[in-house]
Amino acid sequence: MLVVIPQVLNAEQVGAVRERLEHACEAWVDGRVTAGYSGAPVKFNQQIDERSDVALECQRLILGMLERNPRFISAALPNIVYPPMFNRYSEGMTFGAHVDGSVRIHPHDGRKLRTDISATLFLSPRDSYDGGELQVQDTYGTHSVKLDAGDMVVYPATSLHQVTPITRGTRVASFFWIQSLIRDDTQRSLLFDMDNAIQRLNQTGADEEARRTLVGCYHNLLRQWSET
Ligand code: NI
Repeated sequence: MLVVIPQVLNAEQVGAVRERLEHACEAWVDGRVTAGYSGAPVKFNQQIDERSDVALECQRLILGMLERNPRFISAALPNIVYPPMFNRYSEGMTFGAHVDGSVRIHPHDGRKLRTDISATLFLSPRDSYDGGELQVQDTYGTHSVKLDAGDMVVYPATSLHQVTPITRGTRVASFFWIQSLIRDDTQRSLLFDMDNAIQRLNQTGADEEARRTLVGCYHNLLRQWSET
């Protein structure tokens, strides 16, 4: 399930993050430093040293916004969120087809995190660059994603995906992974659909007892399927 989460950051917050990243010249490194053996040969971009002060500051802002984003919580059902990382693609840069590594070590506390969900938060205005589309393959075909600055997409980390070459301008984004309470994408999608339906029924003031039953089913399924 691929879900777009609009306006994780507002324009002011995007500007603040962009400005910090742009001034952190010494913290930008070759993107291959964190690529595994399958990603490294196809990865041509730059990223910010994830332990640098600028990374820590921007991570705090994004994590704080995600914590209170109901659509993100509902779609991802997050257990552990990897601290957001930041990358930059200039003209000619690309990241060929790959699957993200399945397990990552949390950079701050050394915990192992299973990557159930991959996330990309777009930080450059959509019309400021050409190319740089995130293409995600799933059982229904290939989805091309290019969002406005501040918008985010989450998709199963099991998906083969790529970033197409930049032909004009620069694409800056944040990317990270989530270990979900619900490991299985199909189960997570069902819960997301159910939660959305319940929210809509709440807004229309539908039969209260039926809604209560549905809410109970949602939580009992979550309880049955979740792992912490
Ligand atoms: Ni990737």
